[in-house]
Amino acid sequence: MKKRQLGPCVTFFPQPTTLVSTVGKDGNFDIMTASWAGIVSKTPPTMGVSLHHDRLTYAHIKETGCFAVNLVPASLAVEADFCGLKSGRDENKAQVAGLTLGKASMIDAPLVEEATLNVECRLVDEVELGHYRLVLGEILEIHAADEAFDGKGKMDARVFDPLVYLGGIREYWNLGSKVADAYKDGGRLFRK
Ligand SMILES: Cc1cc2nc3c(=O)[nH]c(=O)nc-3n(C[C@H](O)[C@H](O)[C@H](O)COP(=O)(O)O)c2cc1C
Repeated sequence: MKKRQLGPCVTFFPQPTTLVSTVGKDGNFDIMTASWAGIVSKTPPTMGVSLHHDRLTYAHIKETGCFAVNLVPASLAVEADFCGLKSGRDENKAQVAGLTLGKASMIDAPLVEEATLNVECRLVDEVELGHYRLVLGEILEIHAADEAFDGKGKMDARVFDPLVYLGGIREYWNLGSKVADAYKDGGRLFRK
């Protein structure tokens, strides 16, 4: 395949579109769009989110030691983009976007009710990366859309309908269709 070199930049995809929900020591809630978020350890279950140090979200997490990562469904692309364009210092973003903030079970930060997956995290560490802080949160609880489960407890990805972000191109896409089973279909290439 012929390639074009892009140099050191942040073009990489796919990335998730998430809303990080937080509470400050003043009790105010905030939500912020983050695509630099993902699972970084299974044992213990840990979520990493990279935040510019000037985000209100980062200040909140430092103050209260908790945050939630909420998966954005494709139907909420405009609302999620709005939450990435404005700071909670200037807007009550949940109110303007028409998103509902509900109670979490383990942390003081709220959950975005319209998100199909909510991950409750307790801040355990952070790594300084220039202007960014990679915050690491122990996963305390995950809430998954009940309607995604069939009778045997298997989850249907179509219900989660995750909004995919293409970093560098700055586009949102939906998931498309399933192409293979993970941890399984690669086995077809195992040597006999
Ligand atoms: C698609 C998208 C993804 C983003 N991802 C991140 C991210 O991972 N980390 C970050 O610090 N800012 C990210 N931003 C920018 C913040 O969401 C934005 O600066 C926001 O206004 C911060 O809100 P706050 O001050 O209320 O925390 C992203 C914005 C968009 C539109």
